[in-house]
Amino acid sequence: MNDGILLNVEFYIVGTAVNTMTILSIVYFSGSGHTHLMAEALAEGASKVADTKVQIFRITGEQIHNGRWHNAEILEALNQSDAIVFGSPTYMGGVAAQFKAFIDCASSAWFQQLWKDKLAGGFTHSASPSGDKHGTLISLAINAAQHSMIWVGAGEMNQNGVNRLGSYMGVMGQSIPDFSGTKAAELDAGDRLSAELYGERIANATKKWNN
Ligand SMILES: Cc1cc2nc3c(=O)[nH]c(=O)nc-3n(C[C@H](O)[C@H](O)[C@H](O)COP(=O)(O)O)c2cc1C
Repeated sequence: MNDGILLNVEFYIVGTAVNTMTILSIVYFSGSGHTHLMAEALAEGASKVADTKVQIFRITGEQIHNGRWHNAEILEALNQSDAIVFGSPTYMGGVAAQFKAFIDCASSAWFQQLWKDKLAGGFTHSASPSGDKHGTLISLAINAAQHSMIWVGAGEMNQNGVNRLGSYMGVMGQSIPDFSGTKAAELDAGDRLSAELYGERIANATKKWNN
């Protein structure tokens, strides 16, 4: 009888410890490295929040066969996450085809609403000052809405280099590409900081939401 009570107490303590950890996943495509740098900055920001496990998944063209993306491990990891942040460069005013292939495959999670009530956010990078980046963020937010996720906006005013592009739906980065193809990708310092703060914001919001 006493043994039974003790066992219950132990189980409760283990259960509490596991529940305090939240998992934030960042899933993105990057052709020439800028969106990748934003993903890294976001991860750095999210890692500042205690008891947050941060995971990064890069979608690549090699993962796509016959026009279809599939990776069961990544999908399962996303299913187990408390928050998912989506990132894509802006191609022709919308998400890159490689990232759209991922989005389409993840409709398998939509059928069962496996991502319902997870927190969501989005970021993009492009070459032109506008470049129609908003089209990409809207498309990422609509995808999150279809999954019944909770969208977190950027949350930073346009000041001191942070949110210099004035984006509130998600984080935008911009730089002129190196057409020679010889220079490594670089992020504007303000865009980098914007992504870092966004990661921290979403990680904090996830904690509050899960409380
Ligand atoms: C197919 C293609 C379409 C693009 N379309 C746009 C666009 O609509 N607007 C823009 O500003 N830049 C556009 N760009 C430039 C990219 O958005 C820019 O180089 C971005 O930094 C790429 O991000 P990445 O380094 O993560 O791949 C395009 C680039 C490619 C390859």
